[in-house]
Parts: sequence; structure tokens; C-alpha cells
Amino acid sequence: MRSLPAAVVLVTLAVSLHVEAGKCPRVCSCDAAKLAVTCVGKNLTEVPPTIDEITVKLDLRINNLQVLPRGAFVLTPYLTHLNLQRCNIIKVKEGAFRTLGRVVSLNLAYNKIDILYQEAFDGLSSLKELHLDHNRVEEIQPGAFSQLGFLNMLALTRNQLVYIPNMAFQGLHNIKWLRLSHNSLNNLAPEAFAGLFTLSRLSLDHNELQFFPTQTMTREVTHLHMSHNPITYLGEESVSMAKLTHLRLDHMSLQDLSDKALSRAPLLSHLDLSHNQLRYLEPISGPKQLATLNLTANPIYCNCYMRPLRAWAKLGGVKLLGTCAGPAHLSEEPLQVLTPLDLRCRGRGEAPKDELEENDESTTSSPPTAKPKQKVKCPVNCDCDIEVLHATCEGRGHTKVPRGFPAKLQLLDLRSNHFHFLPANSFPGSSHVLSLHLEFCKIHEIEGGAFQGMKNLFYLYLSDNDLTSLVPGTFAGAPELTYLHLEGNRLGLFPGSALAPLQNLFVLHLEKNAISKLEPAGLLSSVTPKLRELYLTNNTITSIAKGALDSAHMGILHLDSNQLKEVPTHALSQVPNLEELNLSHNSVRWVGPNAFHPMSQSLKRLYLDHMGPHFPEPVLALFKFQMSRDALAGPLTSLEVVDLQENPLMCDCPLLPLRRSVQSFTGINGLQVIATCGHPPELRGQKVRDVQVFMSCPHSSSPPNEEVFVDPRPPKVRRPKAKTPGVKAESLKAKAKPPKPTKSQRQRKPATLKVTKKTL
Ligand SMILES: *[C@@H]1O[C@H](CO)[C@@H](O)[C@H](O)[C@H]1NC(C)=O
Ligand SMILES: *[C@@H]1O[C@H](CO)[C@@H](O)[C@H](O)[C@H]1NC(C)=O
Ligand SMILES: *[C@@H]1O[C@H](CO)[C@@H](O)[C@H](O)[C@H]1NC(C)=O
Ligand SMILES: *[C@@H]1O[C@H](CO)[C@@H](O)[C@H](O)[C@H]1NC(C)=O
Repeated sequence: MRSLPAAVVLVTLAVSLHVEAGKCPRVCSCDAAKLAVTCVGKNLTEVPPTIDEITVKLDLRINNLQVLPRGAFVLTPYLTHLNLQRCNIIKVKEGAFRTLGRVVSLNLAYNKIDILYQEAFDGLSSLKELHLDHNRVEEIQPGAFSQLGFLNMLALTRNQLVYIPNMAFQGLHNIKWLRLSHNSLNNLAPEAFAGLFTLSRLSLDHNELQFFPTQTMTREVTHLHMSHNPITYLGEESVSMAKLTHLRLDHMSLQDLSDKALSRAPLLSHLDLSHNQLRYLEPISGPKQLATLNLTANPIYCNCYMRPLRAWAKLGGVKLLGTCAGPAHLSEEPLQVLTPLDLRCRGRGEAPKDELEENDESTTSSPPTAKPKQKVKCPVNCDCDIEVLHATCEGRGHTKVPRGFPAKLQLLDLRSNHFHFLPANSFPGSSHVLSLHLEFCKIHEIEGGAFQGMKNLFYLYLSDNDLTSLVPGTFAGAPELTYLHLEGNRLGLFPGSALAPLQNLFVLHLEKNAISKLEPAGLLSSVTPKLRELYLTNNTITSIAKGALDSAHMGILHLDSNQLKEVPTHALSQVPNLEELNLSHNSVRWVGPNAFHPMSQSLKRLYLDHMGPHFPEPVLALFKFQMSRDALAGPLTSLEVVDLQENPLMCDCPLLPLRRSVQSFTGINGLQVIATCGHPPELRGQKVRDVQVFMSCPHSSSPPNEEVFVDPRPPKVRRPKAKTPGVKAESLKAKAKPPKPTKSQRQRKPATLKVTKKTL
């Protein structure tokens, strides 16, 4: 019935002499009918040697295996499903899975694997799905996947890949979907995907690709997902993919797109260009059956230059999604309803400002599309690539900014030089530069007007310099600046006045500076009205003025690793679009029931992990907020993730009274709550979800596996005056306010609740 290589049979026979058939390892549970063995969350450091050899499904999630040695599963040759998620695996040795020729699904997600060795997956000759997402993979050695001839899906999402070498996926003769999203890819070797003749879906979104990887793309792919990469320009024939039908290029930084960019993608039917910086688009040549063209959230200027696109779309039955950004009388008007007569040019005033005025060489009769020139001029000690309009002088010991770059340059990389000081007009003739790198240049001062004339500058990297302050005119003359990196400097104040001219600023990085307070009121809304993401991680912020962080568009705010003692609710009175708030690694001691009220409709991800010894109170408050949601204006209806790890939560029966509310809380939106126990000591560090302590609590009518956590101890410090209506504060107190135990009393149970504690 089962045919196995002779050697394996010998080994397994030899071992089974010592193992009674049908035996179940002590820490596992076994289902004899399904031939399934489950040993989840047992802190196992090795695969239990007594697992019945006829087992087909082995679930070893949440253990502590660390290293998978060669032949780790030699005793269970009939496995078809193997789950090794969250096993703290650091290394998979070559030959670890040898003998597992029947496994179809292998899950290695959420481990700490950094290198995929040659032959690491040898033996898995029937494998169809391999999950390696959420690891730390930064290197794929040649031949790592060479034996996986049946693999359909490979997930390498959320790793640390920067580069994909040639032939990295050699041997995947049946691969259909390759998932490389959420890495840090900035470079793909030309033959990175060579030989993948069955690959139809490729996900490369959320990486750091600055150029479309034209040469790397294979002709078989039908669905390509490239969203969230910092690509600014697509040149002629960039996308040369004979079978492509769906292309996602949304949430990038496209400022321009050649009308022939897609001329070698004849089957393209769905093109998503939403959330880019396109002001204008010419009819797209190439695709014969384009059905939708998504231009949502681009600053499209609807004047006569958009007429050809509109006419072309109508003629070809292309559905245009998106609206005009201007002129004023057409603002917000759907592109699909415009007629040619709506699209007029009355004079200069209505034309997109830079596109008409700056174009010095050509006449202004036709709208420009950046096209590479072939003549090369380049300063000494720099390299200029005219094809991609890119120059680099990285780490070449320059003490002054070199002069004489090619005229239409778009990317200038000057990182790791020794400029110390940037005088006014440091970049003459750089009006086409979109991206300027000045990291690690020991810059301690920037004179006003240093970037004068850089009217298309979109990305500016000033990270890891020695800046202590910025004068008001620092960014004068660079009005399009959208992404600004100032992390890793020594700024003592939020550089508000310097940012004021940057009306298009969208993402601002200020991590690792020395900012200790944020003031005055209205700080953000007055200087950077369009700001969407603000990163203030790892400063020394202790106080934030009322309304200082109010911002109509802000979606992501990181205040983690600061010195906040409370949730800065008062600083965030108007943040209707805030989706992600990171408050990790602060010593927050107090969260009022209204703490998240200003963002209650929009907040999706809330990080409250590592909050120091006084934290339990906020958890209560959060639940309180949810429980009393009818009394408040709105519940946290959008919440998807709450991270509460590494807090002093007491996993014990006193939490039971809040159980029902927790259930309704978690039930709302498929909310994921991540929490670990802080007490009692024997449960410390374990996932609240996984501990069984609640099973034996009185009146526990529902199964033990849900999220239940709250420490009923009150905070040590005096609470600030709460703006909470009295009734809510009272009921909060009534439910969960026993006196705070001192350190030595920690194990004592709160007096107001009856408790049977099960000791594990
Ligand atoms: C898990 O095992 C390791 C080493 O065997 C030990 O140091 C650690 O305390 C254990 N953790 C738990 C939660 O039992
Ligand atoms: C168009 O783009 C917007 C914004 O990214 C998105 O919400 C919408 O679903 C897209 N529509 C289609 C049909 O792809
Ligand atoms: C904060 O900065 C310090 C010093 O640069 C560093 O050691 C620490 O790891 C940083 N913390 C985070 C969370 O980035
Ligand atoms: C939140 O902040 C913590 C601490 O700095 C960091 O480890 C974590 O990655 C952040 N979370 C997100 C989603 O950025």
C-alpha cells in the first residue's frame, strides 16, 4: 500500500521497535481516526520522538524548536501536512525535510529564519504550498528551491529581502503564485525569475523598487501587483509582458508615464494607477482590450490636454475611474462624465503650472513626457546612467556638492560624503530631479535656499546627519517635496517653520531625533495640511500641546519609544482619518474611556505593547470605552489590530466579569487582539489566547480559547482629571477597582471578587 525508499523503511522499522504503535506523546493530543497529532504551545525544543509513524497531519505550532536538524522528521514519513508556525526557528539545516516526500503543505511562517540554504527543502517532492512569510529571510542561496518541482505557491511576504539574485527560484517548474510583498526589495537581478514558465501571479507590492524591473519580468505573468513602490516614472516599453491582464501600479509616486510605457502589454485589461502624482495622461497605446483605467486620487488637471485621453477612452470603451483635481469648476468631477467641451484651455492660468511654464527647450504646444536623452555629461567621481536618468556619487569623498549633472536627471544619489554645510543654491540646474539622497553626509547646517530651483523635488533624504535645527527658508524653492526624511539627526524642536512652504508634504520622518515637546496648538494643521504619515519614534517627547497633532489627512502616527505618560488624546482632537497609532514603549499610566474617541471611526491598528509597569489600567479603559459605546458618539468600529504584548496583564479569574464585553469587543470586526500574560509568574510571556487558566473559573460558560485579559488593579499614580462623564467613571470603578497591591502582595487576590484560581 505504501511504497517507501528501502533506507527509510529500515530506519523507521528500527525505531518502531521501541515505539508502541498508536502511542501519543505525553504533551500532544492525537486523533487516531484522522491520523492527526497536535502539540501546540508546549515549549517543545525538539520534535517529539514518539509520534506515531503513520501520522499524516502534524501540528507543532508555537513551540521553541530553534534549529531544525538534518532528518528532523525521519520518523514520520507519511506526513502530508506539517505546521511549524511560530516555533522560534532560526535555522533550517540542509536536509531537514528529507524523507517527507508526501508533504503537500508546509508552514514555516512567523519564525526567525534569515538564510534559505541550498538543499534546505530537499525531499519535499510533492510540496504544493510553502509558507515562509513573517520571517527574517535576507538571503536565498542558489538551489534553495531546486527540488520543489510541484510547488504552486511560495509565500515570502514580510521578510527582509533587499535583492533577488539570478535563478533564485530555479526548479519551481509548477509555480503559479510567487509572493514577495512587504520586503525591502530595491533590486532584482535580470534573471531573477528566469525559468518560471508557469508563473501567472507575482506580488511585489510594498517594496522599495525605484524603477519598473522591465528585464526581470517573465512573459507568463498575468497578474502583477506592484503597488506601494517608490517608482516615479515609467518610460517607453517599460512593461513588456505578453500575457499580462491585470497590473496594479497604485500607491506609487508616478509623476509621469510615457504613452508607450505599456505598448508591449497587448492583453492588459485592468490598469490601476490610483494614488499617484499624475497630473495628466496621454492615451495609452498597446493594450487592445483595456476595460478599466483607475486614476483615483491623482492630481489630474482637467484641461484641454486631457481631451485626447477622454476621447480615446470613449472610443475604446475604457472605463475611467477618478476625478479632476482642478481647475476649480471641475474639481471632484468624475473623469468618466466629462465631455471634450468641458476640457478647455483658456490661457496660461489654467494650465498645469510646471508643465507649461518650465519647459524651456520645446515650444509649449504639446504636453511634455520625459524622454531620456542620449548625450552623457557627468562630474568627476560620479556615475551617470542616462537610460534611467540616474546619477550616483555615493561615498566618493566629496566635500562639496559636485556640479554638471545631465540636464534631465531624475535621481541624484550623494549619500555618504562629507558636505558638513549646504550653502544656498547647492543644486543649480536640477529642476528635473525627483529624488535626492543626502544621507550620512555629516551635514550640520543647511543655509536657506539650499534646494532653490528644485521645483520637481519629490523625495529628499537627509537622514543620519548632524542637523540640530532648520532655518525657515531651508526648503524654499522645492514646493513639490512630498516625502521628507529627517530621521537620525539631532533636531531638538519640530521644524515647523521650515516645513511651512511644503504644502504637499505627505510623509515626514523624524525618528531618532531629540524632540521633547510638540507645540503650539495646531502645529501640524497650520504648517503641513496634507500630511498623511508622521513618524516620531524614538525621540524624548514628554508633552504635546492641545490640538498640536490635529490634521485632517493624517493616517499613520508613530509616537512609540518616547516618554509619554498618557494617551495624547487632547493633542489629537481632530484626526478623522487616523488609521494607525503606535504608542508602544511609552510608560503610559492612564487612558480615559474617551482616549480614542477622536479617531473612533477611523482607527484600525493600535499598538499599546511594552507600556511599562503601570499599564493595566488602559486595558480596562479600552473595554470600558467599547462597552459604553452606545453612550458615546461612536465605537471603534474599524479596529482590526490591538497589540498589547509585554504588559503586566494578570491572567486570572478576576478577569471573568469582563468576559462578555470582551467577546462583544472582539466580535465586532474580526478584531485581532495580541496579548501576553504578565502575571502570574508561571504564565508570564504566554499568549493570553493560549493559556487555560480561565477554564476552571466559576460561571465560565463559554469555551476557554477566547481572548480574555484584564488586570483589575488600579494605577499607582494619581489620575489626571478625567473629562469622563461621572456615570461612566463610577461604573468603571464599581466593576474593577480593588485596592492596588504592593509588590509583595502581588499574588494576593483582589478582595472584591470571588476567585478560584487554577494553578498550572
Ligand atoms: C521554555 O523552555 C526554555 C528552555 O527549555 C525555558 O528557558 C523557558 O523558560 C520555557 N518557557 C516557558 C514559558 O515555559
Ligand atoms: C480604484 O482605486 C481606488 C483607490 O485605490 C480603489 O479603492 C478602487 O477599488 C479601484 N477601483 C477599481 C475598479 O479597481
Ligand atoms: C532608539 O535609539 C537608540 C539610540 O540610537 C537605540 O539604541 C534604540 O534601539 C532605538 N530604539 C528604537 C525602538 O528604535
Ligand atoms: C510600533 O513601535 C514599536 C516600538 O518602536 C515597533 O517595534 C513596532 O514595529 C511598531 N509597529 C508598527 C506597526 O510600526
